[in-house]
Amino acid sequence: MTRHYLTIVFRAKIELGDVTPHNIKQLKLLNQVVFPVSYNEKFYKDVLEAGELAKLAYYNDIVVGAVCCRVDTSENSRRLYIMTLGCLYPYRRLGIGTVMVQHVLNYVERDGNFDSIFLHVQVNNEGAIDFYKKFGFEIVETKKYYYKRIEPADAHVLQKTLRPHNQTSTQ
Ligand SMILES: CC(C)(COP(=O)(O)OP(=O)(O)OC[C@H]1O[C@@H](n2cnc3c(N)ncnc32)[C@H](O)[C@@H]1OP(=O)(O)O)[C@@H](O)C(=O)NCCC(=O)NCCS
Repeated sequence: MTRHYLTIVFRAKIELGDVTPHNIKQLKLLNQVVFPVSYNEKFYKDVLEAGELAKLAYYNDIVVGAVCCRVDTSENSRRLYIMTLGCLYPYRRLGIGTVMVQHVLNYVERDGNFDSIFLHVQVNNEGAIDFYKKFGFEIVETKKYYYKRIEPADAHVLQKTLRPHNQTSTQ
């Protein structure tokens, strides 16, 4: 007797979408679940103005992740700061973080005028450190007592250098 097996392949769809007044509550909920730090109203007000620097990540049309960045012009350089980039726990290791980082990398490449991209991570967040190292980020500094209400309070600064410090664009 011959048996016929039917294999159905579901290909997951990962997409990024804008943050709008309509869906900002979803971003707030997601950040509350994913991050041990809470973000204030000013954070969300700025996110609404951030355009391509703030995105929700959808997995088969469900919001499961988000990335929020801002431009930082302190320390005599123009840097992109990743404030939050996270994905709900059950949806990790499916490539959603990669889609969000890739979006940020494409953004800085298109802009062409950033010195580096940086972010803070809790020193015990080995998963995130491994994740960012895959994209060329490295630990450049460790700040003692960076976080006020969480343990461990120390943070690594992860940075991806795009051009040597103080080498400004000639364009
Ligand atoms: C860090 C984070 C965003 C990664 O998101 P993700 O969707 O799971 O990442 P991806 O599936 O795209 O992972 C890409 C690669 O990164 C590496 N990686 C990701 N998570 C990792 C982990 N926990 N441990 C080791 N390597 C990891 C792997 O090489 C992975 O590829 P693989 O799954 O084929 O092995 C996610 O773990 C998260 O939301 N963490 C909580 C929030 C946070 O800490 N954010 C960082 C500070 S902003």
